[in-house]
Parts: sequence; structure tokens; C-alpha cells
Amino acid sequence: MSELKEIRAIGVHDYDNWLEPKEFTYVPQELRPEDVEIKIEACGICGSDIHAANGDWGKPYVPLAVGHEIVGIVTATGEKSRFKIGDRVGVGAQCDSCHDCKRCESRHPNGCRGMIGTYQGVYPNGKTTQGGYASHIRVNSEFAFKIPDNLSSVDVAPLLCGGITAFRPLITANVGPGTKVGVNGIGGIGHMAILFAKALGAEVTAISRNDKKKQLATELGADHYISTDEENFSTKHQDSLDFIINTGSSFSEGHFADVMDLLTLYGRMIFITAPPATEKLTLSPFQLLKSSSSVGGSIIGSPDDIEYMLKVASENNIKPMIETIDISEENVKTAWERMVKGDVRFRFVLTGYDKYFK
Ligand SMILES: NC(=O)c1ccc[n+]([C@@H]2O[C@H](COP(=O)([O-])OP(=O)(O)OC[C@H]3O[C@@H](n4cnc5c(N)ncnc54)[C@H](OP(=O)(O)O)[C@@H]3O)[C@@H](O)[C@H]2O)c1
Ligand SMILES: [Zn+2]
Ligand SMILES: [Zn+2]
Repeated sequence: MSELKEIRAIGVHDYDNWLEPKEFTYVPQELRPEDVEIKIEACGICGSDIHAANGDWGKPYVPLAVGHEIVGIVTATGEKSRFKIGDRVGVGAQCDSCHDCKRCESRHPNGCRGMIGTYQGVYPNGKTTQGGYASHIRVNSEFAFKIPDNLSSVDVAPLLCGGITAFRPLITANVGPGTKVGVNGIGGIGHMAILFAKALGAEVTAISRNDKKKQLATELGADHYISTDEENFSTKHQDSLDFIINTGSSFSEGHFADVMDLLTLYGRMIFITAPPATEKLTLSPFQLLKSSSSVGGSIIGSPDDIEYMLKVASENNIKPMIETIDISEENVKTAWERMVKGDVRFRFVLTGYDKYFK
């Protein structure tokens, strides 16, 4: 099958009216030797889609199709591609890297200084990227991954960004039996962090701004639950966690400093939160001194990490809690509006691509 000349997509045309997504077509990056072209069959709706679409991170270009939890079937390949036509593959938040910096050379291209995002990315030739709310996508096959046969496309889609973002900090911190892990913020990524931390054998505490998600957190496997609207929660539960992953979409209501106080001596907090660009973190240095604690950030995962995460998901049959919704202009709007209200348990996955892009 030869490659497409144009790709149909749904996206933002005006950041100030971002909740009016409309269809458009775009001309993809030429099919390079290492590339694959993928016909999309499912795409998760990540919290980052909302930040990118509403201008939280800036307003680089329109039209913009977001979506970087993509699963589909390979329909065209360059001669050096890792895949063949017909393979089922997934793509996450990164579609290429510079291949030349120290981070790329050390097999950590997720930290590449020239990282190219699956959307809101810019190739060295100036070509901009478009994501998975589209009929197809073309990416460097190094950033596409074979999907294990026992994982369905809708269940695996959220793992391609949300799953790896939750998983990488857990393995960096050597989480396993005997580790007490806190997950602060129980949304798309937070709920996947609970699933992975349990699969790795940890004792898990879900931390949320109120008690509305207590029942579901228990169903996901959480052993304990803390509501940050509970008076004096940080003194009541102090010294209860060795490691915390902070997964909220903002720091504004996340009680970051009080949640840090839940850490044991030498404990660590890693945040994956990618808040609106104007937000700042405020911490008293003495709080870190008194507990010899540390705080850090983490960005998605490397291709090696993603392959390992998919293996762990396959072996443990990890399935996120999802709500599927057929792709259309109207349904993207509905899903985004509900995401903003926190009205999804816990990840939307766009489906019905064949029906819409027929
Ligand atoms: N670092 C990376 O590589 C990476 C990769 C992907 C995504 N991200 C970022 O990770 C964040 C979470 O993504 P997601 O897909 O999980 O989003 P999500 O499904 O919308 O979940 C976000 C959760 O954050 C909490 N929250 C909402 N508003 C908040 C506020 N004002 N202050 C504090 N907490 C708040 C809520 O949890 P509770 O109701 O339980 O409090 C909510 O469920 C986003 O910022 C996204 O851009 C980072
Ligand atoms: Zn994402
Ligand atoms: Zn690089």
C-alpha cells in the first residue's frame, strides 16, 4: 500500500475557542526510511490534550490535532522501518528525537533536548506534528511499539502515554514488595499508577482532593485512601509513605507541601504534573532538610521503558478503567468538556475511526 498524501484530523482552530474542534486535513512529514504510517483505531484522551488544546502551555500553531495514546495498524513503511504492513502498533507522546545529543546516545531520548512531540512538535525542517485525533499518523518507527496480543487496542491505548508516565517513576524508585507508595491525584495517570504499583507488589495509598473516588480506588487495588480535605491529614498520616508520585493536572489544589509531609525520612516525591506554564512550585527548603526528602520530575519514558511497561502490562493483564467514545467533532467537544469537569472514570478512549473516516 502506498503512503497517503493527506491525512484527515479533528482539532483546535482557535485556542480562544478551543472547545469547538473541527475537521481539517494536513500534509504529513514525508515518509522517511525509518518511518511507519499507521491507520489509527483507538486513541486515549490524555490530560495533556486538554493543556495543549486550551493554550495552557502556549499557543504555537493551529489547526492542531492532539492525541498521543495511539493504537493502529501499519499501512505503509520506509525501507528501514522496524515494522511491516499489518502490524498492530502503539505510539505515545514522542514521535521522534534528534538522535545526536547525550540523552539520545544513552538511550533516553524521552529527555532529548530536541524531542519532537507527537503533537505540538516541530521537525528540524520546520514541519509541525499532528496527533491521533486523525485517520492516520506517520512517525519514526523507533517510537512505535508492537502491542502484545492479549491487550485490546482500547485497553492498551492509555498506556502509551499515561501508563508509561506512571510506570517510569515507579521503576526508577525501585518500587516493589515492602514499599509504601502514595499516588496523589486520581485521574487518568493516577489510576494507572495505582494499577502498576500494585502489580509491582507495593502497598498503595490513593490521595485525592476529596473522598469521591474512595470506592473506585479500592476497586483498583489501593490499600489506603487519604482525602486532602480531611483536617490535619498530613499530621494524622505522617511518615506513612516512602515514595509519592504526584499526578495532578495542576499544583493549585494539590496540597503539595502537606502531601510531602506524608513521606518517611529520606522519602522521595516525583511529580509528572505538567501544569499551565504560569504555575510555580513553592516549597520551604527547611521542609526538605527536616525529612532529608527530595522532589523531582519525570517525563514519559524511553522506548526501552515503554517496551518493558507493555511486557509488565501484558503479563499482569493490566487494563485501565476506560470509557470509549466514537470520534467526531461533537464527541471530542463532549469528552473535553467532561474532562475539564473531572467527569470521567478514568480515561476516555476515542474509537469508531472507521465509521468517521470512511
Ligand atoms: N510528565 C509527563 O511525561 C506527562 C505525561 C502525560 C501527562 N502529563 C501531565 O500529567 C497531568 C495529569 O494527566 P492526566 O491525564 O492524569 O489528567 P486527568 O485525567 O485530568 O487527571 C488529573 C487529576 O488531577 C487532579 N486535579 C484536577 N485539578 C486539580 C487542581 N487544580 N489541583 C490539583 N489537582 C488537580 C484530579 O485528581 P483528584 O480529583 O483525585 O484530586 C484529577 O483527576 C497533566 O498535567 C498532564 O499534562 C505529564
Ligand atoms: Zn499524555
Ligand atoms: Zn537527542
